Amino acid sequence: MNVLVTGGAGYIGSHAVRELTRSGHEVFTLDNLVYGHREFVPSERLTIGEVGNSDLLSRIFTDHKIEAVMHFAAYAYVGESVTDPAKYYNNNVGSTLSLLDAVRRFGIRYFVFSSTCATYGEPQSMPLDEDHPQNPINPYGRTKLMVEKIIADYGNAYGLKSVCLRYFNAAGADPEGGIGEDHDPETHLIPLILDAALKRRPSITVFGYDYPTKDGTCIRDYIHVTDLARAHVLALDYLVRNGASDAFNLGNGRGFSVQEVINTAGRVTGLPIPVKRGEKRAGDPAVLIGSSAKAISTLGWKPEFDSLEVILDTAWRWHQQRFEK
Ligand SMILES: NC(=O)c1ccc[n+]([C@@H]2O[C@H](COP(=O)([O-])OP(=O)(O)OC[C@H]3O[C@@H](n4cnc5c(N)ncnc54)[C@H](O)[C@@H]3O)[C@@H](O)[C@H]2O)c1
Repeated sequence: MNVLVTGGAGYIGSHAVRELTRSGHEVFTLDNLVYGHREFVPSERLTIGEVGNSDLLSRIFTDHKIEAVMHFAAYAYVGESVTDPAKYYNNNVGSTLSLLDAVRRFGIRYFVFSSTCATYGEPQSMPLDEDHPQNPINPYGRTKLMVEKIIADYGNAYGLKSVCLRYFNAAGADPEGGIGEDHDPETHLIPLILDAALKRRPSITVFGYDYPTKDGTCIRDYIHVTDLARAHVLALDYLVRNGASDAFNLGNGRGFSVQEVINTAGRVTGLPIPVKRGEKRAGDPAVLIGSSAKAISTLGWKPEFDSLEVILDTAWRWHQQRFEK
């Protein structure tokens, strides 16, 4: 199938491009390279440009006979979405509307969307499943929830078949190397820890040691990016098999505390990880773990790289290759 991957030069999108290609799909990517990396995708497969550019979309859809779209392109900094919500609503919602209109004009039937556990907001039960109420507590989460709703309306009215994948914390890197996490600025725990190991930062700050968890630090669900990428291929197969439009969580199903991640990183790297104690941050729940039972039973997906050691080992190999001087 001919698939357009938006945001394919980014962290998760580039892994999806690889996995789709491995599964025999013809993959084309569109990325404005604001946060993406040119070298993460084969150059003949990359169009540099805006998802909101309707003329460009028409050209790509025509030239490459696109049959399915996977939409990763978005801005994803929660803090920035609070201080500059216009940037987020314009890009994450506005540009997505242009994309969806092109999808409709060209009669493209299949759409897979990168959503997030941030659409759930404050957890009321654990693990979080897809029926948990969606009350996002920041503009970023709201943009993603809005797109979920828009896609559902396009399904009802125009027959678009879609899967929304709500990821927990993406982590790790393709074991084959060459691509991995490189956000600038970086806000994610594992690359920050590995930066501290490489002395690219003086230390890692842990926000809060008095949560009601086994070691007092927050517990989160880390899902390997290659497992995430595989879920996208399975989601497309599911839609093509006539599966109904739906939303699925993608998480590890197990939570790891910040302290456990630091300890494991120390073992994997063999290097000291200097830690600073910080205050709890507003809006950080003690525990966030997803239930992926629905993706497992309906899509036939199963996380394969689910141990913290493997996640950190692949992340570390990438991090050294990318950043070690
Ligand atoms: N990283 C995570 O843990 C995580 C968790 C939940 C959801 N998500 C979602 O997954 C998707 C990918 O996340 P990521 O971590 O790979 O981010 P990323 O920033 O590495 O990738 C996003 C890519 O989209 C591109 N882009 C953004 N706006 C664009 C536009 N208007 N036109 C063209 N290209 C554009 C960026 O240049 C970048 O390459 C995002 O939608 C994000 O919200 C990520």
